Amino acid sequence: MQSAPRTLRIRALRERKAVTKTASTTAASPESNSPHLERCADGLYLVAGDVRLRGDFSSLASRVAPARISSELLVKACKVKGANTPPTAIDATAGLGEDSFVLAAAGFSVVMCERDPMIAALLADALDRARADERTAHIAARMTLAEADSIAYMNSAAAQDQTVDVVFLDPMFPAKRKSALTNKKLQLIRALESPCTEGVELLNAARAIAAKKVVVKRAVKAPTLTDAKPASSIAGKTIRYDIYPPLAR
Ligand SMILES: C[S@@+](CC[C@H](N)C(=O)[O-])C[C@H]1O[C@@H](n2cnc3c(N)ncnc32)[C@H](O)[C@@H]1O
Repeated sequence: MQSAPRTLRIRALRERKAVTKTASTTAASPESNSPHLERCADGLYLVAGDVRLRGDFSSLASRVAPARISSELLVKACKVKGANTPPTAIDATAGLGEDSFVLAAAGFSVVMCERDPMIAALLADALDRARADERTAHIAARMTLAEADSIAYMNSAAAQDQTVDVVFLDPMFPAKRKSALTNKKLQLIRALESPCTEGVELLNAARAIAAKKVVVKRAVKAPTLTDAKPASSIAGKTIRYDIYPPLAR
């Protein structure tokens, strides 16, 4: 049986690092339906009403099995020739880190940028558990969390002439009425994050630091992130990856 949840006060999170917090998250109280964090025996949860969400990489085990990993569309989209050894990536919109985990399983050394303090706390917790689990430790060892706004992070790195092989972007898609009603977990994430309005800044910062390519995840029928036309795209049934070249240096 699980021990009783220990509620973490939002104020404690603010002490983790200086990241701007929205009014809606600071106002959250554990008793309300507003999203808040709860520490349980099996990890840290984001909770709102009866919806609970935790970061968890163990459920991805079959997807990242050595025999299957190269057939992942994300891995095909991010594949690079003549990259560093190991190839390096920034996941500039890390969320709960599932795409980062797939990239790390494919051999990438991944820096995960996440600016929302509650999501970053969930990601840090999932990463700790993955590092402690012998089935996932070798993959988690290639993953590093940077609790930061990735636009500032990448612009600062580019100003110091640093590069990374691949930058991956998965900004929040605009809500579809149907999925917003049916997927409660997605609703919970959306309560913390609005659809991306910084596409141009994000893509430009990514292209300034990428040595090989920038890969942008979109819903298969969604418009491109910005007016910039991708060099190519790879599409599956529901997801499309748009691929952009680095900016000329
Ligand atoms: C759709 S989710 C990403 C899901 C992720 N690909 C996964 O596999 O779990 C987008 C995330 O990007 C974060 N985000 C958006 N813009 C960002 C930025 N400029 N810097 C850092 N994080 C950002 C949001 O807080 C949100 O957690």
